[in-house]
Amino acid sequence: MQSIVSLCKRRGFVYQSSEIYGGLKSAYDYGPMGVELKRNLMNEWWTSMVHSREDVVGLDASIIMHPNVWKASGHLSSFSDPLVDCKVCGERFRADKAPKAEEGADAPMELPDKGKAKAALDKLEKMGEAGLTRNGKSILGAKAGDRGYVCSVCGSPFLSEERQFNLMFRSSLGPVDPMGAAADKIKAVLNEQGPEALQASLRKILEDAVQSTAVYLRPETAQAMFVNFLNVQQSLSMKVPFGIAQMGKSFRNEVTVEHFIFRSCEFEQMEMEYFVQPGTSEKWLEHWSQARMDWWQKIGLSKDKLRLRAHESDELAHYSPATNDVEYLFPWGWDELEGVASRTDYDLTAHTNASKKKLQYFDPEATNPETGKKGWRYLPHVIEPAAGATRGLLAALCDAYAEEPGDEQGKGARTVLRLHPRLAPIKAGILPLVKKEGMPEVARRIADDFFKAGVTAKYDEQHAIGKRYARHDEVGTPYCLTVDGDTAKDETVTIRYRDDRRQERIKVTEALEVVKKALADA
Ligand code: GAP
Repeated sequence: MQSIVSLCKRRGFVYQSSEIYGGLKSAYDYGPMGVELKRNLMNEWWTSMVHSREDVVGLDASIIMHPNVWKASGHLSSFSDPLVDCKVCGERFRADKAPKAEEGADAPMELPDKGKAKAALDKLEKMGEAGLTRNGKSILGAKAGDRGYVCSVCGSPFLSEERQFNLMFRSSLGPVDPMGAAADKIKAVLNEQGPEALQASLRKILEDAVQSTAVYLRPETAQAMFVNFLNVQQSLSMKVPFGIAQMGKSFRNEVTVEHFIFRSCEFEQMEMEYFVQPGTSEKWLEHWSQARMDWWQKIGLSKDKLRLRAHESDELAHYSPATNDVEYLFPWGWDELEGVASRTDYDLTAHTNASKKKLQYFDPEATNPETGKKGWRYLPHVIEPAAGATRGLLAALCDAYAEEPGDEQGKGARTVLRLHPRLAPIKAGILPLVKKEGMPEVARRIADDFFKAGVTAKYDEQHAIGKRYARHDEVGTPYCLTVDGDTAKDETVTIRYRDDRRQERIKVTEALEVVKKALADA
């Protein structure tokens, strides 16, 4: 994984955000190669989900929606992680992700250095914890409690109570100054009722002030599809079953950020809500689970590193009778790439109740199961394939990354990104063998043809040809076109294929078409 992270920085895929200021935890910037790769991946998804189907249409909704959306969807009350503070090292961590430890088992603690261990032992003794000893930077003699876990950083069993922490980012809308309103209220309580009354109501005053203008950055793109269900259905006369697709940024104040861009606070999703007739969900869940597995393979992920895993009953969201995860074998093990969930009519019911707007669909052809007559008005059920675009990008990089050892002497060793050609940031490297004898001019003309056709290409004349091939292999350029001494004689160039380094001569005039065809056939 470390090699992939370092390639990402070296070759301009992903940088740590605000790096010159020490970086911001869990925030990343996509560099010149990364932005192309991400766009290519998302465009492939859009083409497959929207442009290639007549039953799915697109949406691009605002990131900030009415706060009642999140109230109705349940995100305000229950989109939270259980958090615990360690009383020894001060770490705040997710209880459900902490290392497991059976009650009564030894719970040795390890601090960063001797001094910190000594200070921690003093603190524990002051807290009344007896029978503990220090050995270097370790503290021994503690036992795990009935929580079933210990601190994820130092291993301590001395922990605060669990608290629920909402994952949505809160902001305020409009020119109102919530802090000013809070300050006025605090002054009034202080003057009229005194400091004791203030102590009892301080939290509520602050919460009320912030809440009056509170809006949230969306934690998923899905809700916009539910609240726009009727708009889309009516404006395009869509017939059930049909889907609404959206891709874009989502935000979660994740407590545990992990594995580079795998889990971050700002990320991109590609989600589709497929509205179906009640009673047909099982069939559509099967359909979309398979379709999504096929798509990940089509864009180049290895078949043996993908699997479909049905959620156990204790993992299922309370509204979902069945959910399948598309999992990928990341360097740290199998992990979620996409969830395909059967969501019943939970969301449309929640928004109907909260908005008092009927979100029903009328199907004149269907037989109403209650009356036995033609014409059925119902709330559609939903199948939701919800994928992570930034997580998909990481999977594509992991799958494509290879270090080839070369021959016995190491000759021919290289690092190569075997990205699917349509995902590759640069489709063709255009390389004059040397910077003389008219080669740069011909190479420039070929590059111009590519630019005019909108096929991403890079004219590259710096360094020896071997170095240039190596550079293009590292960013995953599938084809390199080299103009050499023979070009002037027979109007041909060499096309070099990234994966097997095979080289062929093709006509200069056909170069663009050869690359376009290879991309279309890939
Ligand atoms: N609307 C349903 C929904 O949002 P989810 O499983 O929470 O479901 C869907 O998210 C996908 O979004 C996940 O499978 C994952 O690929 C991606 N995702 C979720 N949280 C993420 C995070 N913090 N960082 C990166 N990707 C994330």
